[in-house]
Amino acid sequence: MSEFRVTAISSLHAEFSVPGDKSMSHRAAILGGLANGNCLIRNFLPSEDCLNTLNAMRALGAPYDVLDELVGYGPTCLRIHGQAMKLSAPAAPIDCGNSGTGMRLLAGLLAGQPFASELFGDASLSSRPMGRITLPLEQMGARLETRGAKPGCAPLAIHPAKLTPITYDMPVASAQVKSAVLLAGMFADGQTTVIQPAETRDHTERMLASFQVRTRQTGNAITLQGGQVPAACDFTVPGDISSAAFWLVAAAALPGSRLLIRDVGLNPTRTAILKVLSRMGAHMSEIVHHAEGEPIGNIEIHGAPLTATTILASEVPNLIDEIPVIAVAAALATGRTIIRNARELRVKETDRITTVVNNLRAMGAEIEEFEDGMEIQGGHPLHGAVIDSFGDHRIAMAFAIAGLFSTGETVILNTDCVNTSYPGFSIHLDAILNHRTHAADFTLPTLSHA
Ligand code: S3P
Repeated sequence: MSEFRVTAISSLHAEFSVPGDKSMSHRAAILGGLANGNCLIRNFLPSEDCLNTLNAMRALGAPYDVLDELVGYGPTCLRIHGQAMKLSAPAAPIDCGNSGTGMRLLAGLLAGQPFASELFGDASLSSRPMGRITLPLEQMGARLETRGAKPGCAPLAIHPAKLTPITYDMPVASAQVKSAVLLAGMFADGQTTVIQPAETRDHTERMLASFQVRTRQTGNAITLQGGQVPAACDFTVPGDISSAAFWLVAAAALPGSRLLIRDVGLNPTRTAILKVLSRMGAHMSEIVHHAEGEPIGNIEIHGAPLTATTILASEVPNLIDEIPVIAVAAALATGRTIIRNARELRVKETDRITTVVNNLRAMGAEIEEFEDGMEIQGGHPLHGAVIDSFGDHRIAMAFAIAGLFSTGETVILNTDCVNTSYPGFSIHLDAILNHRTHAADFTLPTLSHA
């Protein structure tokens, strides 16, 4: 089992890009496989989560060719052979690994097929709630069975079914649930509508538009007419702002630092992290250089002494994956930071409220746990500790960042999990720990097959 050993840094000056966006890579694999021809996907994220979804589409009859790869991980540029909405029965149960997004989106896709399938995942995924998608999908006529040891959890057996469209008022603000219902709606006759209680990331809607599948948005309601065949297109995945967030916090909290992250996704449903860090005192500018479909640009950040903030309830859905590292920023800031209305953190890859609270406490932070969040009294010096990631990629990376600001050595145990979202994280961490500043120090090794 691998580990990170981290010590404090005194400067951070770097320019680099982070691997492709996880949410968009899942969706590109799925819509590419449904399209009416070949789709070239550039900067695909070769993380375990997204590779599982890509291989799921291959198992459903949509193969791909690799044009470029990240050595040791998988394809970064690929051509998917879309099957014009005609999938075939998989020969075996489909492994979704650690990915809630993969399992929930694929469940939506498979709910209305004329063949049976089964989705399974690792221990963490097998303990996460699937009722949030089985409920609306069953209302559409899907025949689903959760076969997990824990009620309502994976493995998920999906029997053949013909779907009818519904209007679904989502009780939780979840882009995964919205996307599962919309994907199911593509195979139903008529109009499917999803109403969100708050805005969530809109990558599914934007990518459907890139593939010329029309959706209509009225307020927080999104409607899709079933039976549309996605038109094959090429798609470039921007860098993942949730991966960039780790370095943005490191730079923000270190006065005198300068960091430029290139070619990162700046979709407004994902950039709440930038607002929060600005509010805490970091100096930041973003320049969008490509605004069609998904906005892409550069973020430049200069560190400053940080001050505490209160995270607004309306910000939480668009900040949910960044909260572990925001909690680290809060521990380094002066004053009391309040994070509430974030109950959803308890059903992520780990219970991220408890793992963040326990790990930050072990490093000397003053932090109080609530059912729906935490309050952090910042400014207590952090000290190195042995920290368990509990197999959660974002916990491993958030605490590597905490280690950059702690006295002594921080050892993060169980770090293989970072490969579920950020292949190459350890290369970037190593360059930053060793004060290497050349672009080449941050280049991840690639191999071209073209
Ligand atoms: C995701 C949606 C979010 C997020 C996850 C990716 C997506 O989950 O936490 O990492 O790609 O749709 P929820 O839909 O459960 O909020």
